[in-house]
Amino acid sequence: MFVVILLLLYQHSGEGICHNVSRPNIVMVMSDAFDGRLTFEPGSKVVQLPYINYVRQLGSTFLNAYTNSPICCPSRAAMWSGRFVHLTQSWNNYKCLDANATTWMDLLERNGYLTKMMGKLDYTSGSHSVSNRVEAWTRDVQFLLRQEGRPVAQLVGNTSTVRVMQKDWETTDKATQWIQQAAASSRQPFALYLGLNLPHTYRTESLGPTAGGSTFRTSPYWLKKVSSEVISVPKWLPMEAMHPVDYYSTFTKNCSGDFTVEEVKNIRAFYYAMCAEADAMLGQVISALRETGLLSNTVVIFTSDHGELAMEHRQFYKMSMFEGSSHVPLLIMGPGLMSGLQVNQLVSLVDLYPTVLEITDISPVGNLSGHSLLPLVTGAFSKRQHPDWVLSEYHGCNVNASTYMLRSGRWKYITYADGLTVRPQLFDLTVDKDELHNVALKFPDVHARLDKLLLSIVDYPEVSTAVHVYNKQAFTEWRKSLEGNYSRVIAELRWHVDWQKDVLANERAVDEWLSGSFR
Ligand SMILES: *[C@@H]1O[C@H](CO)[C@@H](O)[C@H](O)[C@H]1NC(C)=O
Ligand SMILES: *[C@@H]1O[C@H](CO)[C@@H](O)[C@H](O)[C@H]1NC(C)=O
Ligand SMILES: *[C@@H]1O[C@H](CO)[C@@H](O)[C@H](O)[C@H]1NC(C)=O
Ligand SMILES: *[C@@H]1O[C@H](CO)[C@@H](O)[C@H](O)[C@H]1NC(C)=O
Ligand SMILES: *[C@@H]1O[C@H](CO)[C@@H](O)[C@H](O)[C@H]1NC(C)=O
Ligand SMILES: *[C@@H]1O[C@H](CO)[C@@H](O)[C@H](O)[C@H]1NC(C)=O
Ligand SMILES: *[C@@H]1O[C@H](CO)[C@@H](O)[C@H](O)[C@H]1NC(C)=O
Repeated sequence: MFVVILLLLYQHSGEGICHNVSRPNIVMVMSDAFDGRLTFEPGSKVVQLPYINYVRQLGSTFLNAYTNSPICCPSRAAMWSGRFVHLTQSWNNYKCLDANATTWMDLLERNGYLTKMMGKLDYTSGSHSVSNRVEAWTRDVQFLLRQEGRPVAQLVGNTSTVRVMQKDWETTDKATQWIQQAAASSRQPFALYLGLNLPHTYRTESLGPTAGGSTFRTSPYWLKKVSSEVISVPKWLPMEAMHPVDYYSTFTKNCSGDFTVEEVKNIRAFYYAMCAEADAMLGQVISALRETGLLSNTVVIFTSDHGELAMEHRQFYKMSMFEGSSHVPLLIMGPGLMSGLQVNQLVSLVDLYPTVLEITDISPVGNLSGHSLLPLVTGAFSKRQHPDWVLSEYHGCNVNASTYMLRSGRWKYITYADGLTVRPQLFDLTVDKDELHNVALKFPDVHARLDKLLLSIVDYPEVSTAVHVYNKQAFTEWRKSLEGNYSRVIAELRWHVDWQKDVLANERAVDEWLSGSFR
């Protein structure tokens, strides 16, 4: 019933988009660590996400949307700047955009929009833990130390505990108040950004103040939304068959031990329940727009900075080019946009910048890495072709070589460092959804073609060298700033358990890395 009414409303305001007078409002809800495959079948069968489904019915769902870098800060830097992370040198969670960088939100504000950004932003330089940045800088040191807590599931509350992630709910409440008050009474069009922490894992408190986030926490209320019988148990390669860089990730993420099937299923169930809680926050925002009558002239976008492996490939967290980590949700609905559409085209987060600017009829500034998605969701004829590839890259912690991923057609090509010293990976996603069969050697022509395409987009060996140089410089400066405290401070970071097993050997490995010519 409601769906029908809304479709009619959309038709009435359908002239929108290009006219200054009725420029639509923009509301973007960006979650953290949401696996995009859950927003369409078959992934959508495992957990109830009523509000994502609502946007899917009234708007368009991108079936092949990727992050440009599978970690918070670089990914968000790409989304806000519209530029690939190597262009803004967003190398890790500590080094991203300059505070004065121009985002699409800045341009909207300059062009007459009432703007508001709430919750997790996390795209400028300078934040995140010392452990996080030191682990990124020292990824080439010849040691292998566990850095994270082992992933665990933690049940809190009871069947009526709705608000598990309190902070996100507080931000969502503020966002809905802002819609009801500031936005509803504004004579200007408005743009609202809401950054959620969920379904990001929680910090594991038992592991002390430096601990990372390895706790999947939810309540029975949310767990009931998960269909446990359809939770898949991911297949793993034997440890000795893993790609060396994936092995490094698994080990530093403290996942190299044994896990029972029950344990893995439980972690996955808890993760899906956390997604359901995030969906309810999106729902509260949509309801506020609906109740204030603003929804019919508002473009709503739901996405995430990256996904979550939830024990796929013997890992949790992201920092990986495997689907669970790199495939993000992207749904968009609004006046003049098609409803119930599923878009196969490969797209990525850098496309959001030109998309928002085209919707709001504002000219972009400078060179952008992405392309507007509007031709894909308006049904209008367009001569502009969206490229048939997306680029994702990663230069941060838990991965010991700069990583470049090119998705094109059926292929996912992953290459590392200078392209020569670490063997590449190639997956045919049409026959190998689990990404367990590296066919780089089997299809040398495909490998060569994709590598050439990648090199035409980014001179990746040069970028990898720039990251090596930056890592050494940044680490050296940090060490200098600590003076005589260096040995104590580095021994107490997140990797303290393993570091303290042989302090001298670890310090020596750091010195050897710093004095080495390249690595
Ligand atoms: C932005 O700030 C950086 C330092 O953080 C500075 O180097 C740069 O020139 C500034 N850019 C502009 C456009 O002000
Ligand atoms: C169009 O938008 C610009 C920028 O906000 C504003 O200055 C101008 O007055 C608007 N024109 C109309 C016809 O509303
Ligand atoms: C790895 O996990 C184990 C088991 O949870 C824990 O005892 C250990 O402290 C973790 N290591 C780090 C560095 O957190
Ligand atoms: C759930 O927990 C809350 C807060 O502790 C309590 O007030 C409520 O009675 C509990 N409800 C049920 C159904 O156990
Ligand atoms: C990454 O770490 C793994 C595991 O220690 C090691 O086998 C591999 O050689 C390392 N790769 C690079 C490029 O350092
Ligand atoms: C845009 O890209 C072109 C071609 O790569 C380059 O020559 C130009 O300097 C760039 N402009 C800006 C503002 O970055
Ligand atoms: C070294 O540690 C001491 C004791 O915690 C502290 O007072 C001092 O400021 C530290 N020095 C530097 C350079 O961090």
